[in-house]
Amino acid sequence: MDVLVIGSGGREHALAWKLRQSPQVGRLFVAPGNAGTAKTATNVALDASDHNAVAAFCEAESIGLVVVGPEVPLVAGLADDLRERGILVFGPSRAAAQLEGSKAFTKALCDEMHIPTAAYGRFDNPDAALAYLRTHSAPIVIKADGLAAGKGVTVAMTDAEAEEAVRACFDGEFGAAGAEVVIEEFLSGEEASLFAVSDGRTYRLLATAQDHKRAFDGDAGPNTGGMGAYSPAPVMTPELTARAEREIIAPTIAGMAARGTPFLGVLYAGLMLTDAGPKLIEYNVRFGDPECQVLMPRLRSDLMDLLLGSARGDLGGVEPEWRDEAALTVVIASKGYPGSYEKGRPISGLHQDFGDGVTVFHAGTTRGDGQVIATGGRVLNVTAIGDTVADAQRKAYEAVDRIDWKGGFCRRDIGYRAINRENR
Ligand code: AMP
Ligand code: GLY
Repeated sequence: MDVLVIGSGGREHALAWKLRQSPQVGRLFVAPGNAGTAKTATNVALDASDHNAVAAFCEAESIGLVVVGPEVPLVAGLADDLRERGILVFGPSRAAAQLEGSKAFTKALCDEMHIPTAAYGRFDNPDAALAYLRTHSAPIVIKADGLAAGKGVTVAMTDAEAEEAVRACFDGEFGAAGAEVVIEEFLSGEEASLFAVSDGRTYRLLATAQDHKRAFDGDAGPNTGGMGAYSPAPVMTPELTARAEREIIAPTIAGMAARGTPFLGVLYAGLMLTDAGPKLIEYNVRFGDPECQVLMPRLRSDLMDLLLGSARGDLGGVEPEWRDEAALTVVIASKGYPGSYEKGRPISGLHQDFGDGVTVFHAGTTRGDGQVIATGGRVLNVTAIGDTVADAQRKAYEAVDRIDWKGGFCRRDIGYRAINRENR
């Protein structure tokens, strides 16, 4: 079967890399892709916001399955428009993508299904929001309702910061995404992610992971899309995973089905492990980036079985198998990211053999003059598997040190929480 992956990040390179290993996949396309996907698949210059163009390409090339990587096209209804034309898609409908597209939507579902999450209020005007802040003091969390490229959340440590964040949302800092605001109780604990794939009625748990959102070592600096990740997350014991499955994942899939908007695709739960148990911080309706880069190397069985089972609405008989080893990925980003950064510098040293179990997934790269050129904020994901997280970390940094790119930086402490646990 011929497959089209939508997206251009490290997540999509990891998906394409894993799909290339499937005996079920014939031709593999990535739109628009990057310099890494160009070696694994065929890049196509398609604009995912032009649903007609994507559908026309699928019809012309007899694409059997479309795999949508990022959230923006899902929230915009790309999956609906392709399905309407009879094209099989992995990814939720516009209605089901509201789990990521609207924080207030997810909070309402949590209320309805008694899913543990932070207490909250939702507001469509500044006066009501500011009045709520007078009775709920900092630390407190202010969230723009809609998609804000990961920037719509302020964890306010003072009342003044909280008020400022509310005003910024209603003043249009996040555009239409901030027209509604959710104010949430501050949860303390360690964060972890749990992934599941659903066919709308049932689901299969994938694995756990932990991300590193801040730009610099020791979790300092601004928030980013993620500077590194590993899987599994040792903090997610089998007991905590089973509890999160029972109290969070299962009622979400059941609640979405009961509403008549079944969730088909990958459900990524961002959890806070509080003293009172796991609580849902947020849902994403896609694989995490860079979490996907550590899930794919750990998946032993055929990814196509999961994607096709979900897309066709029947995961019956599909049981994903995982390697016991840990996987860890280090993101190399352009100096200046997540602020402004220089583009267009060549990267060398990518064509060597980094050894067993080491893979470099590309994100913001393109090919020019026979070289790989850095064009984005997050540029490379140096990924390794090992017997422990410490082992995977050592292999990943050995590879990082053999790549020559003057314009890049990375964190040197990816995996520290897990490694501290391993050393106990
Ligand atoms: P989100 O975009 O919803 O993932 O939020 C970004 C980050 O803000 C999360 O990864 C958490 O670190 C933090 N955060 C979100 N909600 C809360 C909360 N209720 N309590 C504490 N931290 C939070
Ligand atoms: N790494 C965080 C995300 O994909 O949202």
